[in-house]
Amino acid sequence: MQVEIKDISYGGCGVGKVDGKVIFVPHTDIGEIVEVNNVSKGSKFDKGEIVSVIKPSKDRCEPFCPYFSLCGGCDFQFVNYERELELKLIILKNELKKANFLEKIEIFPSKNRFFYRNKIKLTYRNNKLGYITPSKNFISIDKCPIANVEINEALAVLNNYFKVHSYKNLKSVTFRKSDDKILVAFLFSQKENFVYDEILNPFFIGVFVGEVLENDKTKLIKTFNSDKFYKTILNVKIPIDFKSFFQINNLVAENLYGYIIDNLKGKKIVNAYSGQGALSLYLSTVCKKVVGIEIQKSSHLIAEEIKNSNMENINGLVEEKLPLLLKEEKFDAIVLDPARAGCQKSVIESINRVKIKEIYYISCNFATLARDLKLLSEVYHIENVKMFDMFPCTANMEVCAHLTLKSV
Ligand SMILES: C[S@@+](CC[C@H](N)C(=O)[O-])C[C@H]1O[C@@H](n2cnc3c(N)ncnc32)[C@H](O)[C@@H]1O
Repeated sequence: MQVEIKDISYGGCGVGKVDGKVIFVPHTDIGEIVEVNNVSKGSKFDKGEIVSVIKPSKDRCEPFCPYFSLCGGCDFQFVNYERELELKLIILKNELKKANFLEKIEIFPSKNRFFYRNKIKLTYRNNKLGYITPSKNFISIDKCPIANVEINEALAVLNNYFKVHSYKNLKSVTFRKSDDKILVAFLFSQKENFVYDEILNPFFIGVFVGEVLENDKTKLIKTFNSDKFYKTILNVKIPIDFKSFFQINNLVAENLYGYIIDNLKGKKIVNAYSGQGALSLYLSTVCKKVVGIEIQKSSHLIAEEIKNSNMENINGLVEEKLPLLLKEEKFDAIVLDPARAGCQKSVIESINRVKIKEIYYISCNFATLARDLKLLSEVYHIENVKMFDMFPCTANMEVCAHLTLKSV
């Protein structure tokens, strides 16, 4: 069937209509007419696969990656980068309308569209590493062109390793790039004998047992070639380990942090969801005081290691610690940088109650951002929203909203 694409969805799919019913078609641009098949029917909308492009967008191009449209990781490799950014802006604007934000959004593009990711997690199945597709199938890969070049070289080595070594309980392998080394974490669901091979010598290897690598309950069983590892951002060396959160795209992270730091000089700040403390550390050099709140123990310990006299770190849930902190001390501004789920309602309510002067809300999920901005805008005015293209080729984006207290 033929579909004319009229809009772009939250998840980056082209949106058209057939006999009045909405159909989502991945990897299509607004204005294109495409031939679609394999339509899966839903009660409210259908989803189809593109077979051919009858009327292509002027921005359509050949995808750079052989797995594009197969692995499900990237959404926009079928158009040039300028068009990708335009499509992202349409998606973001549509979502922020829900918070009544209709102003211009400034974009900070990524210098690198490919090879930018400093971390990837691959699933292990039958001696192969790969991704789980949107239809829940496994696809093995020998490269991932949005991952750092050295991570790709490490993947080639690991693929050779798995030609010889096989595991029953291995779930995933996570690759992470520090300044000068690749960290490779093997995550097992149950304890199993890990076989070290000298081809792994160039890497820092960690063997874990647990459900999710980043979880505090996940146990580190063994390391090989261990040392201290750092990631240098804005000329500061931040220690990293296998588990702690770190922004995925170094150059865009520098833009984001630089923007926040420039705007909060001289102020007293709460940095909620503070991770390993990188942003707190930068802020502490130009601000009166910074208090970070972070739940993950390993990230908190790094923040404690790097802290200076202007910086404090609280280990705990923001929803528990923030209301107590705001009762004890007065702050000029709060930085919120939650995970994809956004802030708990009680967090927003306590900020609205205390009426801190300004907020910088950093988000990697514009849907939960829009939800939270709507609540915050009962008390705050959304001054501006900026999009930092942390995740090129995908429909994900890092967004920062600046809010100030409404005058009464
Ligand atoms: C998107 S990361 C931001 C980290 C940091 N701002 C940075 O730029 O490196 C979100 C962080 O929030 C932490 N986190 C998630 N839910 C939390 C909660 N309810 N309370 C405290 N920390 C939380 C995660 O462990 C993670 O380190």
